Amino acid sequence: LRRVSTGLKKLDELLGGGFPGETVILVSGSAGTGKTLLGLNFVAEGARKGENSCYLSLNENKAELLRACEGIAALEDAKKYMGKTLDMKTMTMGEGIDIYYFTEMFSSYPKIDRLVIDNVNKLLLFAESKKEYRIQLSRLIRYLKEKVNCSLLVCETEYDNRDKVIDTGVGESFECDGVVHLSFLEFEEKPMRTLEVYKMRYTEIEPKIPHEFIINSKKGLKLADSHFV
Ligand SMILES: Nc1ncnc2c1ncn2[C@@H]1O[C@H](COP(=O)(O)OP(=O)(O)O)[C@@H](O)[C@H]1O
Ligand SMILES: [Mg+2]
Repeated sequence: LRRVSTGLKKLDELLGGGFPGETVILVSGSAGTGKTLLGLNFVAEGARKGENSCYLSLNENKAELLRACEGIAALEDAKKYMGKTLDMKTMTMGEGIDIYYFTEMFSSYPKIDRLVIDNVNKLLLFAESKKEYRIQLSRLIRYLKEKVNCSLLVCETEYDNRDKVIDTGVGESFECDGVVHLSFLEFEEKPMRTLEVYKMRYTEIEPKIPHEFIINSKKGLKLADSHFV
């Protein structure tokens, strides 16, 4: 299986080269944990390598996404790939654009290498019922595996310190091939951004080992060696 570089060197090492190809990976976490930046970093990495990459946002518009990239030196070059190997799309859900419309759209989508959908919570919000959402989500994931080599589905989760909540409770983590969870953890009495791999099909992993996830305007995004092993 061809591996897809994640944009984080340490994460590539942990996964034996990157995410497995022909997969859909869930990137979950509470507000501010870095999901959007992780996604932007993932498509920028692909765009630089000449892979056709697309960021589809149901949250921010293109200007806001570019503004987020401009704040991080390592992502500044994303702009120059726009319209070439990088595409940023914004869609507003509601008014007839629901998860059903969305899956139909992907069924006619051209093949691409990398895709980020930010976020699945918006799809759930505009679904008729949780059951309908799960059925459509499953269809969407199947389409994505045909059309896209590696897709990241961003998922907003509630903050919870005890047992971590890794999806919306409607089965995203079961439907996806992998789950990468971002959260805040106390380390030496200070909250720290962390990344944990919960699940990765076709890959030998050490699950749920928190690694510090660093967002630095000058150095970019980085995964550190774990403080916890
Ligand atoms: N230029 C930057 N330098 C340092 N940290 C940044 C920069 N831009 C954003 N951040 C940090 O990233 C966080 C937002 O990340 P984001 O990916 O939007 O989170 P999420 O999508 O998980 O809600 C902000 O709270 C901020 O602290
Ligand atoms: Mg976000």
